[in-house]
Amino acid sequence: EVVDIDASAYDAGEHESYMRKEILEQPTTAQAVLRGRLDERFGTAHLGGLDMDARDLRAVRRVKILGCGSAYYVGQMGAALIEELARIPADAEAASEFRYRDPVIEPDTLYVAVSQSGETIDTLLAVQEIRRKGGRCVGLVNVVGSAIARECDGGIYLHAGPEVAVASTKALTNMFLGFALLALQLGRVRDLSIADGKRLVAGLERLPGQIEEVLAAEADLVDVAKELAEARSLFFIGRVRGFPVAREGAQKFKEISYRHAEAYQTSELKHGPLALIDPEVPTVALVPSDELTERNIGALHEIDARQGPLVVITHEDVDLGEIGARRIVVPRNEPELDPILLTIPLQLLAYHAAQHLGHDIDKPRNLAKSVTVE
Ligand code: AGP
Repeated sequence: EVVDIDASAYDAGEHESYMRKEILEQPTTAQAVLRGRLDERFGTAHLGGLDMDARDLRAVRRVKILGCGSAYYVGQMGAALIEELARIPADAEAASEFRYRDPVIEPDTLYVAVSQSGETIDTLLAVQEIRRKGGRCVGLVNVVGSAIARECDGGIYLHAGPEVAVASTKALTNMFLGFALLALQLGRVRDLSIADGKRLVAGLERLPGQIEEVLAAEADLVDVAKELAEARSLFFIGRVRGFPVAREGAQKFKEISYRHAEAYQTSELKHGPLALIDPEVPTVALVPSDELTERNIGALHEIDARQGPLVVITHEDVDLGEIGARRIVVPRNEPELDPILLTIPLQLLAYHAAQHLGHDIDKPRNLAKSVTVE
């Protein structure tokens, strides 16, 4: 499998930065990772690069995902997808911690290394630790032929094309989609019904167009981003599927705006951080329309009562009632796939905050695109 964009010919063109170009490319790059892999007839995915047949896939009892930074947060989104669709225990761990605790490697666990560059040393060393101890490790990697891709037993190339900006955007979206494909395939060789499989295939096919819709509403976000840029510290909150989205949103904001941004589970607010909420500390809340909406709104009331400024990323049908909040609406997909549509406005908020502050967006201070030395 070969990425069909020539990196040497890739430049920011008329865009003021690579990050902006890469954000706007997502409707196209999202199609690239799905292309040829969806099976509408049987409601499943085909991932030849995994080099695992239906029997191998059925033998998997647990999934352990390893990545660093944003790849780790998307790994958490992926773990949730795998648990929901395939009903096998799945979790994500920071690859940078993994090898230091002499991890137990199980033969019926599928290990998944996630990396845009394929060169992140901590992720590479985690893969080597797994393979040295006899585990099967597959990769979700963007750069073809990279060290992690070569070290893995098989994998899913992300086909996002070259990503230059330090703050990863299009590669992360494709990581999420790669996990959705894997979860679908793992689910369909188990108990996920063909009807659910077809529902998710249709959802995945709708996603690139919906990403485009979110991007088309970019202008509505600029003022909100400028307001957030003025805060010294802010929270990003979400629950269950929304929590890794909050972590990724806070990460992106920190990286390029240099503001302190902390992700929290909405349910944990009252167990501590609520003490910090006041008119100076804004909160970006993820409130999709799902079984937790009412509970999420309850937490927003707590923030509002303390005059904490609120930006709520939500769906059209969610009624915030009296709560004073800036509302950013994204289209609905199937609930399992919603996280990626909730992530896109967070990329734009970080981007416009950094732009307002006049920072070097593509090369933030102290950071490298990939960390290749220990
Ligand atoms: C993402 O915006 C960050 N720059 C960073 O956390 C990154 O995701 C991490 O260093 C992992 O990089 P990789 O995907 O190339 O392995």
